[in-house]
Order: sequence, then C-alpha cells, then structure tokens
Amino acid sequence: MISFFVLLLAVGVVALISSAFYKSLALKDVPGPLITRFTKIPLLYQTINLNRTRYIHELHRKYGPLVRLAPNEISLNHPPSVGPIYNYEKTHFYNAFEAYGAKNMFSTPDRARHSSRRKLLGGEYTKAYMLRPENLTVINDRVRQMLKNISEINHVDVFYLFNYMAQDVISGFFFGDQNGSHLLQGHDIEVFDAWHMRRETFHWFAELPKLTNFLYSSGIASLLPSWRDAAAAEQFINDMTHKWMDRCDPEKSHLLTKLLKSDLSREQISAEVMDHMGAGHETTGTTLTFMVDHLSKNPEQQTKLHEELKNVDLDDFAAVDKLPYLHGVVLETLRLYSSIPASEPRIVPASGVTLLDRFIPASTVISAQPYSMHRQEEYFERNLEFVPERWNEPTASAKTAWMAFGKGTRGCIGQNIAMVTIKVAISHLYKTYETSKPTVLPASENMDFKDYYMITPVNDTCSVVFRKVEHGEKC
Ligand code: HEM
Ligand SMILES: *[C@@H]1O[C@H](CO)[C@@H](O)[C@H](O)[C@H]1NC(C)=O
Ligand SMILES: *[C@@H]1O[C@H](CO)[C@@H](O)[C@H](O)[C@H]1NC(C)=O
Ligand SMILES: *[C@@H]1O[C@H](CO)[C@@H](O)[C@H](O)[C@H]1NC(C)=O
Ligand SMILES: *[C@@H]1O[C@H](CO)[C@@H](O)[C@H](O)[C@H]1NC(C)=O
Ligand SMILES: *[C@@H]1O[C@H](CO)[C@@H](O)[C@H](O)[C@H]1NC(C)=O
Repeated sequence: MISFFVLLLAVGVVALISSAFYKSLALKDVPGPLITRFTKIPLLYQTINLNRTRYIHELHRKYGPLVRLAPNEISLNHPPSVGPIYNYEKTHFYNAFEAYGAKNMFSTPDRARHSSRRKLLGGEYTKAYMLRPENLTVINDRVRQMLKNISEINHVDVFYLFNYMAQDVISGFFFGDQNGSHLLQGHDIEVFDAWHMRRETFHWFAELPKLTNFLYSSGIASLLPSWRDAAAAEQFINDMTHKWMDRCDPEKSHLLTKLLKSDLSREQISAEVMDHMGAGHETTGTTLTFMVDHLSKNPEQQTKLHEELKNVDLDDFAAVDKLPYLHGVVLETLRLYSSIPASEPRIVPASGVTLLDRFIPASTVISAQPYSMHRQEEYFERNLEFVPERWNEPTASAKTAWMAFGKGTRGCIGQNIAMVTIKVAISHLYKTYETSKPTVLPASENMDFKDYYMITPVNDTCSVVFRKVEHGEKC
C-alpha cells in the first residue's frame, strides 16, 4: 500500500518536473539562473521573503536587460520595449486586489470592462477637475490641518501624518468634501493599522492563492497569529469602507455618486471604492515620507527649495506647479524611492513577441520593474544620485525610462491627484518649515524599504524635526 503511494508520488513528481522542463524549453535562450528553467521556487521564496524587487534587480545586473525568473516568467529592463508590454493583458496576480468577491478596475483582465470603468471615473481624476477651486479646497484643507498638527508637536513621525493626510484627501474626493475620513483629526485611525496588518498575507494570496485559501478554509491559518490578524484586518477595512459609503450623501459624493448611478452591483462598487482607498493613500504617504527624509538629510537641496518658495503665492497652484526645482524633487523622489518599485505582471499574447532578438512565446508572464528601470546608467547620468535639475530639460531617454506611475492603458488613474497633493503638501511644508533628522534616531527607525509590492519604510516610522523658517534670514 505504502509503496503504491510512493510510486504515485514519484510519478507525480516526474510529471511535474518534465512538464516544467517542457515549458521551460521555450525560454531556454533567455539568460537567467539555470534553476529558473525548472522551477519558480527561488522567485516565490524571494517574493514571500519581501526581497523580490532587490532579487530581480540583482539578476538584471548579472544577466542583462532580459532575465528568466521562472520556467514561464521573464523580467524586462529595456525602456523602449516596456510601453507596449504594459498594454498586454494582466495575470491572475491582480486577483489579490479583489474585495467583497468582486473585481475592480485594477484587477480585471477584461479589456472592455476595464475601459468602461476607466471612462466612468476618468473625468473626476483629470487634473482640470482637481484644480477647480471648489475641488482644490479638498486638498488645501487637509494640508492646512496637517500643518496645524505639526505646529503643535515639532518632533513628528511623518509616516503616519502623511498617510492620514493622503487618506483624508482621497476619501474627500470619493465621498464629498465633508464626508470622507478625518484621520488627521483623530477619527477612524484604526483603519491605518488594519491596512498594515493586511499586508502580512498579501504575497501569499497573490502568488499562491489556492494554497492560501485552503489554509484559511481548513482553519490552519488561524493557528498563526499574524494570519489571523490579517484576516481580521481585511474584515475591518471592508466594514470601514461600507461605513464611509453609507454615511455620505449619495447625491453629493462625486466619485461615489458616479459609481452609484452606474449599473454596478453593491459588491462591485465596494470593491472599487476599497481599492482606491488603498491605492490612493499609502503610495502618496510613502512618497512624501521618503521625500522629507531625503530633504532632511540633504540641507543644501532643501535650501534650494526654500529659495524657490520664498516669493511664491501658495494660493496660486498654477505658479507652484511650474516651479522647476520642486517639480524635480518630486520626480527624483518617485524615481529613487518609487512607492511601487515592483513588477506588474502581464501575459504575452497569442502571437508571441520578439524582444532584444529573442522570440518570447504566447502565455509567458512578463514584467518590468521601476526600481531597475530607474537605475539604468545609460538612461540617467549619475544614476544613483538625487539630481532634481535633471528634470528641468529632461532627456528623451530619461522620459522613456521613468515609469513611477506605470505605462500604457493600465497606468495610474490617480497620478494627477497624487502629484497635486504632493506638490501642495511640500510647498506648504517648506514655505513654513525647515526639517532635519533628530540627533538621536529612535531605535525603531530604518529607512530601507519593506517590499510588500507597495513599499513602506522598515518599521513604518520616520522621525523628522520641524523648525519654523524665520522671515528674511533663516537661522
Ligand atoms: C505616488 C503615488 C502613486 C503611485 C506611485 C502609483 C502607482 C501606480 C502604478 C505603478 C500603477 C499601474 C499598475 C499596473 O501597471 O498594473 C497604478 C495604477 C492605479 N492607481 Fe496609482 N499610484 C499612485 C497614486 C494613486 C492614487 C492617489 C490613486 C487614487 C485613487 C491611485 C489609484 C490607482 C488605480 C485605481 C490604478 C489602476 C488603474 C487601472 O488599472 O486602469 N493611485 N498606480
Ligand atoms: C535579497 O536579494 C539580494 C540580491 O539578490 C541578496 O543579496 C540578499 O541576500 C537577499 N536577501 C535575502 C534575505 O534573501
Ligand atoms: C468638484 O467640483 C464639482 C463642480 O463644481 C462639484 O460638483 C464637486 O462637488 C466637487 N468635488 C468635491 C469632492 O468637492
Ligand atoms: C456629510 O455631509 C453633509 C453635507 O453634505 C453634512 O451635513 C453631514 O453632516 C456629513 N456627514 C458626516 C458624517 O460627516
Ligand atoms: C491633530 O490635531 C487635532 C486637533 O486639532 C487632534 O485632535 C488630532 O488628534 C491630531 N492628529 C494627529 C495625527 O496628531
Ligand atoms: C524594526 O524592524 C526590525 C526588522 O524588521 C525588527 O527586527 C525590529 O524589532 C523592529 N523594531 C521595532 C522597535 O519595531
């Protein structure tokens, strides 16, 4: 009996290996570690170990612009080829972004469904919409509230503060100026810890959904405290999203009103709302955190920003938007500290594709990662240095390689709200304050990034000291 099972197991293993080997033949000419011809295990290990982006970056350094990651998966680090690739269909990786059992704009692979969702909300995400005075107020008010908080405590954990602010902004646009979240004022802040706890199982759901679902349905997952907490956090976020949706005035809530007037089900609407609440706060919060950390460590660059802001009227956003140094600081932060540095997997279509003289067959999983694209020496002079001036008159190659908001039809719909929020926040902060790092850093601070697809600083904390800029001369 036992030997029968051993035999069955052996047959199974041989079948698995040979099928992987057969599939790998197609990609055998793509450079990469030998083991990746046979198995996805090294990639899975690095991903779950929060080391995927660094691992892939190292592979590109070793093997060049085209690298095999697994028997059926490659990574591309060749800017001119990435645009078309990112219009390919999405893989099942994005299922991990579903909520309430429904797909949303971000997760759906279906082209028609995607473009109708994008059309539905596109108007409210344009820069022109955001810059109407009655809309810009949503951003200005939150930034002012944040400055008020800073004025009360000059030693600040900016990571929390920036995330609260970004959450209050995006929810203001979704639910109406008064009816969004008010984290900055101390309401509903539990949602913030919930977003963080939920990340614990993210890579498991994204990479090994069947196994992960089995571990949950069988009760095994509940033996692990962090997995139990992650599930509770997800439930909490779902409930909070519904609480926000239900308390707002459906006629006056703008983005949500659009969804409510469509033919989408409540689950579909909730899944859309929750995704925008998530995508819309941590990315902006992380960007601002790394920006202020960088400026606090580089006073000479901060001084240039102070000089530029000195004579600008902050109520004139068009003028703020045109400031070249400020603009460069934002783009350099998004280049070197991309809040989504990770690959966005797509599927090669039926025709296959030829890349860098190699034929890549249909169904291969393909992606490119901003982290590596943004560090290419051939595309960025002094590639590892923070040089805001490079964006005054950017080279064509720099523009091709920069992809902090993705590329193509699936690129970030929230990029205008992100850019405007970041510029309003940074211009107000540095018109009023000088920032520096505390002389003694808290033991918990570590500004390396934690690689949960969207990144945050290790330990989710970043300390900054704020000091008012004196009028005339600075002290
Ligand atoms: C600095 C801030 C941000 C960064 C770096 C960022 C980055 C990205 C990237 C790289 C993608 C493309 C993903 C892919 O190719 O599959 C994306 C898509 C998306 N982002 Fe952002 N994002 C930011 C802010 C926001 C904000 C404020 C929102 C507001 C709701 C948002 C909502 C979305 C949505 C809904 C998508 C999916 C678009 C689609 O599938 O058509 N993002 N974002
Ligand atoms: C992460 O990846 C880098 C680059 O491949 C490697 O040097 C490092 O050892 C990895 N870290 C872990 C914890 O596996
Ligand atoms: C943005 O402006 C429009 C047009 O004036 C207005 O109807 C809408 O309520 C504003 N949106 C928000 C979130 O305040
Ligand atoms: C929602 O907004 C309306 C005004 O549009 C306001 O009267 C109401 O108090 C707000 N509700 C909450 C919970 O903030
Ligand atoms: C910001 O200040 C308000 C009072 O104006 C306070 O209630 C709130 O807790 C503060 N928020 C943070 C994050 O410090
Ligand atoms: C900070 O993070 C490191 C590594 O993730 C961890 O070992 C350490 O315990 C954390 N410290 C605090 C105070 O949370």
